[in-house]
Amino acid sequence: MLYYCAVRVILVRDYDQVSVRAAQFVADEIKKNPSLVLGLPTGSTPVGMYKELVKLFQSGTISFKKASAFQLDEYVGLAPDHPQSYQFFLKDHFLDNVDFPASNAHFLDGMSQDIPKTCDIYETSIRKSGGLGLVILGIGRDGHIAFNEPGSSLSSRTRLKTLDHTTIRDNARFFDQPEDVPKFAVTMGVGTIMDSKMVLLLASGRNKAQVVSDVVEGPMTAMVTGSILQMHPKVTVIIDGEAATRLRRLDYYTKVEEMWDEKLSV
Ligand code: PGA
Repeated sequence: MLYYCAVRVILVRDYDQVSVRAAQFVADEIKKNPSLVLGLPTGSTPVGMYKELVKLFQSGTISFKKASAFQLDEYVGLAPDHPQSYQFFLKDHFLDNVDFPASNAHFLDGMSQDIPKTCDIYETSIRKSGGLGLVILGIGRDGHIAFNEPGSSLSSRTRLKTLDHTTIRDNARFFDQPEDVPKFAVTMGVGTIMDSKMVLLLASGRNKAQVVSDVVEGPMTAMVTGSILQMHPKVTVIIDGEAATRLRRLDYYTKVEEMWDEKLSV
């Protein structure tokens, strides 16, 4: 059993390997604890991981029958059946393709007329489920985790958030017109994520290199909300070569992983 009190960095070759390694990580945790409570991300990065998890389910390697899930965030103003809503994404890429019980999948209602109440109920559901066990994250180029944009309180809980212009620009690729990108979201807070027992962060590609180095090695600051993960006792970051190019201590992380592998094989 490995224990770590630092950001663990796993370097792999490319996006496909990020996906395979991330799915392996989740599968191992599900096998250890079939009732795992997951925090689930959307975006381009986790698509490959979800594909791999579906494959592992189809081959009989894992089951999600006892697991629970909470989506990380949701656009305000998009109905659950809107193809760009995050609820739609999670069902389409993952939940509907495995044996996840519908009653264990929790979503944020982006159409709610009472957002503060929706957010309170969400936090209560997380607590009632025993708390988050593994939150999986992508990372925004502005350093956001879930939709916790720069300047978010590092102890924030689930709430309404105004999206940053960088995020709106980055996400415009999913919409017919840039004006269609919602301006607001509901999101788990930084504090909500930090309460999770484990965190897995994924990043791939050169356009994530700067933010990966800010998150893993930069000063801890609300201007890069992902950097608070340096305070978390059990964070794993899986990145490919391009996303790793700005890390100063890459040799060290690689050496640590090699030493662990050697230790595990004896
Ligand atoms: P991406 O988004 O995976 O589409 O790059 C990451 C994020 O915004 O959290």
